[in-house]
Amino acid sequence: MTPEVVVFGTAGYAGQHLRRARALHDRGEIVLAGACDIREPSEEARALLPEGAVITQDAAELLARTTPDIAVVATPPHTHLPLAKLALAAGCHLLVEKPPVLDLAAFGELAELARNGGRACQTGFQSFGSAAVPVVRAAIENGEIGTVTGIAAAGAWIRRDRYFARTGWAGRRRVGGQPVVDGALTNPFAHAVATALLVNGTAEVLPERTAVELYRARDIESDDTACARLSFAGAPDVVVAATLAAEADHEPYVLVHGTEGRIRWHYKTDLVTIHDRQLPVAPPRDLLANLVAHIRDGEPLLAPLAATRAFTALVEAVRDAPEPLPLPAAWVRAVDTGPERHFVVPGVDRAVDTAAERLALFSELTLPWTGAASLERER
Ligand SMILES: NC(=O)c1ccc[n+]([C@@H]2O[C@H](COP(=O)([O-])OP(=O)(O)OC[C@H]3O[C@@H](n4cnc5c(N)ncnc54)[C@H](O)[C@@H]3O)[C@@H](O)[C@H]2O)c1
Repeated sequence: MTPEVVVFGTAGYAGQHLRRARALHDRGEIVLAGACDIREPSEEARALLPEGAVITQDAAELLARTTPDIAVVATPPHTHLPLAKLALAAGCHLLVEKPPVLDLAAFGELAELARNGGRACQTGFQSFGSAAVPVVRAAIENGEIGTVTGIAAAGAWIRRDRYFARTGWAGRRRVGGQPVVDGALTNPFAHAVATALLVNGTAEVLPERTAVELYRARDIESDDTACARLSFAGAPDVVVAATLAAEADHEPYVLVHGTEGRIRWHYKTDLVTIHDRQLPVAPPRDLLANLVAHIRDGEPLLAPLAATRAFTALVEAVRDAPEPLPLPAAWVRAVDTGPERHFVVPGVDRAVDTAAERLALFSELTLPWTGAASLERER
């Protein structure tokens, strides 16, 4: 049986899903049966659909006019749960983009619906499909860095006005009164958090404690500079620090601390180094192809919903955290103009690295801007 696939969303990241689905369609591994988008699809998106495929504005109509086995949900985060439920009710297996859901209640609901319906739910964490996962795990299990004492992740990117203007939910904590939780750790650097939790072996475990610190250099509702520590019973802590107000773009990484060394994995480029020695890593596995092989042959899912439980606890903690502290103007510099404008917090790239190196929160590093921001709030 060749599974039929539909894609929810046609622009933004959904375009990537359409391209990958079309490649699998052309190899005869799936039938790309259609797509939907509440906005008019571009000519480019239409051209990615094979002849005879259905295009609608409405997901329910798409499900009614096709007989899909798999639905790819590549729409904004706050639409994932209702669209995933619709697709499950139509008997589909799922590939849901990250963050799959925005709180643990939604996580439980989706997991139960999928389980009761005998349907698989893959998520869009492509780093879980990386061949670096078994490489890093093997190195840890072989004791190459001694005993693991903590896992960190760090990310520092420049994000310009055009990034925040691309869609209505960018930089928002809520849309129409509904949480969307578009913070640095929950969306752009979601992979950093989820991958660190996966390496820690605690992806499916609820943390005992979660500390979250949210700041914003920009005049947005959500944070653009944040850190968190997730503490587990019987497992090392995970500390993640990230900023979208960087001085320069850096490759984000997961850093495994051991008593006898460290493993650094740049999870987007799959560069893995142990004791400064680089390890070979095979190409990553495509998550839709893995879902198809799971349905057909029982191949284990690489990024199942279950493995995003601890990540979802972090999303919920960010949702429930106090509003982000605005960084004082003295610590924020505007660079460039128009859609290219971006904000820079001098020294923040180093601060993010230091947090990862010391497994420390920003507040534990006595950074000038964190103290100034707290003082400003108290005033
Ligand atoms: N895995 C990754 O590396 C990665 C990268 C970028 C984005 N994402 C995720 O992909 C998702 C989409 O992000 P984006 O930035 O492309 O968002 P977006 O706002 O551009 O939305 C994508 C498309 O979905 C459409 N859409 C919105 N609501 C819809 C609905 N109810 N039914 C059908 N279509 C609908 C929009 O019109 C748009 O064309 C998010 O969850 C995001 O976090 C993942």
